[in-house]
Amino acid sequence: MRVDVLTLFPAMFDGPLNTSILKRAQADGHLDAQVHDIRAYTTDKHHTCDDTPFGGGAGMVMKIAPLAAAIEAISATDERPPHVIYLTPDGTTLTQAIAQELRTQPRLMLICGHYEGIDERVRTRYVHQELSIGDYVLTGGELAALVVIDAVTRLLDGVISADSLAEESHSDSLLEYPHYTRPAVWQEMDIPAVLRSGDHGAIARWRRLQRLERTFQRRPDLLAHAQLDKHDRAFLRSLGWHDPLWTERPPRKHTPKPLPEPSSARHDTAE
Ligand code: ADE
Repeated sequence: MRVDVLTLFPAMFDGPLNTSILKRAQADGHLDAQVHDIRAYTTDKHHTCDDTPFGGGAGMVMKIAPLAAAIEAISATDERPPHVIYLTPDGTTLTQAIAQELRTQPRLMLICGHYEGIDERVRTRYVHQELSIGDYVLTGGELAALVVIDAVTRLLDGVISADSLAEESHSDSLLEYPHYTRPAVWQEMDIPAVLRSGDHGAIARWRRLQRLERTFQRRPDLLAHAQLDKHDRAFLRSLGWHDPLWTERPPRKHTPKPLPEPSSARHDTAE
């Protein structure tokens, strides 16, 4: 996947893109991340990228011309048209499901705003999707762009093992089960005995119940989207979960079947 980032602060990407999995994903050819300085697309001698807002008010607005020139010039460097995303606190909140959708795009272009944001007409003309990483305001879109790059890159084929992705938090609307490693006893704190039992079926069942319990306790809203079988549901109900599919059935009234006629009576009529 190719990712073009448009920013006024390219240095913010140096550390994260050159560390750990993002670094390896690029070295292995899974990710081609290119960071572009919007200022390089200005034409005035002061390299002006912002201006005062029409109608007055606080702050500055990022100008159309450098951004439009950057978007068009960078888009044209590859035959794949980019899926253009603007990072903004008024966008749709990023979720694992959105990250899963984005991983299928061959090319993303991430536009990082600053100050009060970008001129609305850039959004109207070029932007396909607007994303927020949460209900708080950052100084700019750079950290949000890095969050998108990280969340999407780890889902690209070959970047991390399929096993690691299988039961992680949010993968199927359930949170992750707790993990333990050596030592088995630390400061008198033992690990759950089942994890040392060698019984893989019992371990899998324990982990499933842990995921259900954690999700119920911490993010009960997620359970509405999870795939739950009747055992999951029964367990969650035992924790106090209100199961939307569960209706207490009134005890069935017992209506005795009519007794067969006595055989002598039948013989009577037959004769
Ligand atoms: N820019 C500023 N705050 C942001 C947020 N919460 N998400 C995405 N972009 C932003």
